[in-house]
Amino acid sequence: MNAQATYPPTDDKRWRLVENTMRRHGNQPAALIETLHTVQECFGYLEANALSYVATTLRVPLSKVYGVATFYHFFTLKPQGRHTCAVCLGTACYIKGAQTLLDAIKERYGITPGQTTEDQNLSLVTARCVGACGIAAAGSLDGEVHGKLTAEELLSRIQETISHDT
Ligand code: FES
Repeated sequence: MNAQATYPPTDDKRWRLVENTMRRHGNQPAALIETLHTVQECFGYLEANALSYVATTLRVPLSKVYGVATFYHFFTLKPQGRHTCAVCLGTACYIKGAQTLLDAIKERYGITPGQTTEDQNLSLVTARCVGACGIAAAGSLDGEVHGKLTAEELLSRIQETISHDT
């Protein structure tokens, strides 16, 4: 039994996806980058609580976690928009039109990967393979993966998600 059981910072269900990533890699330190990708895809950025939680679970010194999080340009420590859309740019999704998804978001919301809309409603990031190649093109909205996406469908899901806030 693991005497040092660790728990997610909140009961937000997106933490389950983060836990799954770590567990899939045996909660080993080697899972660090993969796990940070999952945190960012789910929450849009790497918040301090998330970094502590990941450090403890993977038994990696917190200083090293910060080192990795700040070294790679695709990670961000700053809060982004209220919702995060991650478009998978893995090979299968790319072939199935991931670029058209990015183009549609750019046209509708005026943002490119790494940007957030002015009203802070939506951040757009890209992901590597999210493990849903069979249903490419895939993307996630606040950590929930959707497959067989067309530009129209993705835009309507985003719209629906944003309108739930109002
Ligand atoms: S390449 Fe997109 S889910 Fe695998």
